Amino acid sequence: MRASWVRASAPAKINLHLGVGPVRPDGYHPLATVYQAVGLLDEVTVSPADTWSVTVAGDERLALSDVPADGSNIAVRAAQLLAEHAGVKTALDIRIDKGIPVAGGMAGGSADAAAALVAADALWELSTPREELMGLAAELGSDVPFALVGGTAVGTGRGEVVVPAMVRGDYWWVVALSGQGLSTPAVYGEFDVISEELGLDDPEIPDELMEALRAHDLEKLALSLHNDLEPAALRLRPALSDVLAAGIEETALAALLSGSGPSCLFLCSSRDHAQQVGYGLRSSGRGPVTIAEGPVGGARVEMVG
Ligand code: C5P
Repeated sequence: MRASWVRASAPAKINLHLGVGPVRPDGYHPLATVYQAVGLLDEVTVSPADTWSVTVAGDERLALSDVPADGSNIAVRAAQLLAEHAGVKTALDIRIDKGIPVAGGMAGGSADAAAALVAADALWELSTPREELMGLAAELGSDVPFALVGGTAVGTGRGEVVVPAMVRGDYWWVVALSGQGLSTPAVYGEFDVISEELGLDDPEIPDELMEALRAHDLEKLALSLHNDLEPAALRLRPALSDVLAAGIEETALAALLSGSGPSCLFLCSSRDHAQQVGYGLRSSGRGPVTIAEGPVGGARVEMVG
């Protein structure tokens, strides 16, 4: 018997290294990045319907009203792309339960697209080959292929070429959320302004970072975390400097901006340490904060009804 609904989840991502090169003719920037999927999840539930629709639910602090509730939503576009690819004619009712900050630099939209691909694939019993799903994911957005793969991985191209990386152990992060998102194109635009003054080399993955991850050496990792978009995001949102500095004062091992921001990440040595740093940040008015452990797996079916 066919399922009447399928629920899938997909994780937020952080970039342990985000190296950005000079803008390409197509408007994208070449990246050399190390992604890690962390345990903040969005869930996408799909069920057959006569017309396409989407509803968005979740924690009030997550700026849910910024998520489009129409056909421009990336989860709808993902399911429609798969339908077109497979020749499926049915429409879907799509429900998104958000646990990932909206416009926070943690690829929440990309997670929704990946979860929608996996959920619709299961509902329609397509068993689409992995490489084909990865191809559709890349069409939808630069970070969507990684949301399918999860774990820790090296990303190149515009971020869509993903190769899993060898990593030992678990990593604990405090994430300081911001009530107001930052636009990714705006941050890249500011990056272009800054880099025109400085000049740019092709981005590379630092060896020290990969060594630190293979050895689970947190001190070395703390010194190797880097985000080329941080200066641009800080120019657009100077108050984030204070949040980053406050995390270090609260004994975080390192602080950096997540992707294009405005979420800030703090590396901690354990769950207890993360709770302590998170508590300190919240008490000094830099909240809301959340704690996330990585790496976690990519998009997957959670439940079928
Ligand atoms: O691929 P995606 O749709 O997620 O990208 C959103 C925007 O982020 C792009 O329109 C572009 O402005 C910027 N971007 C970029 N270089 C990348 C990835 C994204 O300039 N490698």
